[in-house]
Amino acid sequence: MDTTSVWRATAPGPGYAMLQGDRSCDVLVVGGGITGVTTALLLAGQGRQVVLLEAGEIGSGTTGHSTGNLYVTTSLGLSAIASSWDESVAREVVDRRGAAIDFIEQRCRSLPGAAFTRCRHHQYARFAQDQPSIEKEHQALARAGCAVALEHALPGGLPPPSGPVLVLADQAQFQPQAYLRGLAAQAAESGVSLHEQSRVLELDARARTATTASGTVKAAEIVLATHSPKGVHLVQAEMPVHREYALAFEAGDVDPGAGIFWWQGDESLSIRMHEHEGRRYLVVVGPAHKVGTHNAKAALMAVQAMANSYLNPGKPVHRWSAQNYRSHDGLPYIGRDRSGCFIASGFATDGLTWGTVAAQGIAAQLAGRADAFIDRCSPGRFTPAKGARALLEENATTVRTLVQGYLTHGQQEHLASLAPGDSAIVEAEGEAFAAWRAPDGELFAVSPVCTHLGCKVRWNSVETSWDCPCHGSRFRPDGTVIEGPALAPLKRRQLALG
Ligand code: FES
Repeated sequence: MDTTSVWRATAPGPGYAMLQGDRSCDVLVVGGGITGVTTALLLAGQGRQVVLLEAGEIGSGTTGHSTGNLYVTTSLGLSAIASSWDESVAREVVDRRGAAIDFIEQRCRSLPGAAFTRCRHHQYARFAQDQPSIEKEHQALARAGCAVALEHALPGGLPPPSGPVLVLADQAQFQPQAYLRGLAAQAAESGVSLHEQSRVLELDARARTATTASGTVKAAEIVLATHSPKGVHLVQAEMPVHREYALAFEAGDVDPGAGIFWWQGDESLSIRMHEHEGRRYLVVVGPAHKVGTHNAKAALMAVQAMANSYLNPGKPVHRWSAQNYRSHDGLPYIGRDRSGCFIASGFATDGLTWGTVAAQGIAAQLAGRADAFIDRCSPGRFTPAKGARALLEENATTVRTLVQGYLTHGQQEHLASLAPGDSAIVEAEGEAFAAWRAPDGELFAVSPVCTHLGCKVRWNSVETSWDCPCHGSRFRPDGTVIEGPALAPLKRRQLALG
């Protein structure tokens, strides 16, 4: 299945050369999403020598698979932050996210393809039982100083809500991939050395050295802008990993115009419009699913069925999904962690704005400027004892599942019965393998043991990947890393029965 997002399909880029040879610099940024590229640009503006390494292409991670929505609230609710922390922190969140949106708007003045538009953000319940959460959010946003209102109708043929619609004025949306491509070009013009197809295979945080297949970078500082930071970090023990599935349809009867529409409840949908070269698209994103514990194809089909049932769109033209990491207390993790590297993670599905906040915060910290909010977001707020315990528990689970999990009744398959396009955990030559037979018949067999901390990978039928449920590492059928904290590929196996 083609899983190119509407953003990536409509904003191709020029490409940047792979890293070749050995380099040294002031700051190495790992990751070419909105966090990494913005950080690199800001640090170049401080006169620093910056190298940016991206494993795939600029925006090929989460940024190019996002919604393109920018808002001061958070997807898990400002009321949750107010109750985890207090109302003053909720107000800080709104202020910092608002400043990040202003930054993006200012940058977009020289990037017309980014299609930045100020718009209204709507939250509403489809069913009456979900209405109390809308009212709770209304109170939390009002207490945080936001201009909110309750209205009673939705525009453009959207199905009627079950109660008042919470409307937040002066939010925004843009074309995230076009923005990122434009920002990367500005970073390159400012002297940042950008490299695509340059996956970090080894990272020595103490020596501040990263190694790819074709070169090495030694830096005074390293920023891991890879969502879950590469390697083993304590924050990973408390960041559940989720995937959301999205479709872009040809616009049909429903066309609410500019605006962010969150249909809240168990059957949640995020809805927006996008226009490119005169073609209008209805972009719909469904609810979150824990990575490695759901059927990816069923999840995608469920979003499509919901959209067809309630929005009656035209035909689907793009399908994609994206991964996100939640923090344990609603705030992101931004700053230097115990590895000595800067990290930026725990953004949930709010990463376009949090990524910009993180870039501004890391640049400020490196410049020696005090920033109380970023200090509050420090990865160090994570309690090490709690983290260590969680890691131990997770490792215990890993060992248990390695011993018991794969060859239990009902999971065992035989290679000979694996049809083109099928995947399975198979037993061969006395071992378990994660196997997939390509449509042309070629067999790919890899170790099912994630190289990060040893959990078992699960098949993702939409993305054709092996996904790890523990901390979100994802691997291609040949074992190479797609994303997540793992550095090493799954071990490839050659099987005689193939
Ligand atoms: Fe951590 Fe797989 S064990 S991502």
